[in-house]
Amino acid sequence: MIAGVNRFLVPRFPAVNERARTVEAVAAGVSAAGASALARTARAGTGVAVDGLRVRFGAREVVHGVTVGFHAHRVTALIGPTGCGKTTVLRALNRLHDGRPGVHISGSVRIGDEEVYDPRADVRDLRRRIGMLFQRPNPFPLSIRENIALAARIHGLWSRQDAAERTEAILREVGLWEAVRDRLGQAPFLLSGGQQQLLCLARALAVEPDVLLLDEPTSSLDPGTTARIEELISALRDKMTIIIVTHNLQQARRVADEVCLLLDGEVVEQAPADRFFQAPADERSRAYVDGRVG
Ligand SMILES: Nc1ncnc2c1ncn2[C@@H]1O[C@H](COP(=O)(O)OP(=O)(O)OP(=O)(O)O)[C@@H](O)[C@H]1O
Ligand SMILES: [Mg+2]
Repeated sequence: MIAGVNRFLVPRFPAVNERARTVEAVAAGVSAAGASALARTARAGTGVAVDGLRVRFGAREVVHGVTVGFHAHRVTALIGPTGCGKTTVLRALNRLHDGRPGVHISGSVRIGDEEVYDPRADVRDLRRRIGMLFQRPNPFPLSIRENIALAARIHGLWSRQDAAERTEAILREVGLWEAVRDRLGQAPFLLSGGQQQLLCLARALAVEPDVLLLDEPTSSLDPGTTARIEELISALRDKMTIIIVTHNLQQARRVADEVCLLLDGEVVEQAPADRFFQAPADERSRAYVDGRVG
């Protein structure tokens, strides 16, 4: 088994006592207002509630106490100039900083009613529940078929009998079936960049995530594939919570229900997309939308 796939091999983590979690969150320094926001988000489904998140690389703190809610069944665009901490925040949501030397994280991240940084949390299962797509596609060095089906089978979501049918269905869903139907047994690296990104999206969807993190997923893609991915994002919001980092404000207008602007590691404003773009509450948001910042 290759190391990159191994992290998907997990049982689900056990159900959690909500009240105990709240007590722990408060004990961990989560504000009372934060705790009630967390409870609301938790009740609404599998949204993601971030409270007082700080990330430090060595001596340098780059995320300074971010509190933000990513609502279930909505698309939130996380925007802001280069270096403001968008990727750092996104990676903190599914613990991708774990094990990196010199990285210090504090605060609370909850998915539904579960604390992501609870020492008892099963990180591999967490990453099944919180899928991620990066700027550059990263298919596994396995066949196209196994890229899609392996983790789903290991998680017990697909049986050996129905794997072929479900692989086809998911490849059809992302619009890749016709391109790969005759080469399912081949490695994915001869696919175009856009096709590889669609394959990675199909792989993320196969394990039925509750949350999808997208870090500039279309920045290196052609307009056709970009449109396809935007259509999928819009369709997928019925099933999951979606957070997309993008520098493309037109894309944020097209796909986002909510917008969150980050500047220098702090949240400046979070608002419904219409309001954010038409009448932002903060002058810095106006400046960013007008192209006067970043
Ligand atoms: N592993 C790391 N070690 C040290 N500093 C880091 C590390 N990762 C990120 N940083 C720093 O943290 C800050 C935020 O980086 P981050 O990648 O989160 O920005 P971003 O908003 O995603 O930018 P971009 O839009 O360019 O992708 C930057 O100053 C970056 O140099
Ligand atoms: Mg980034």
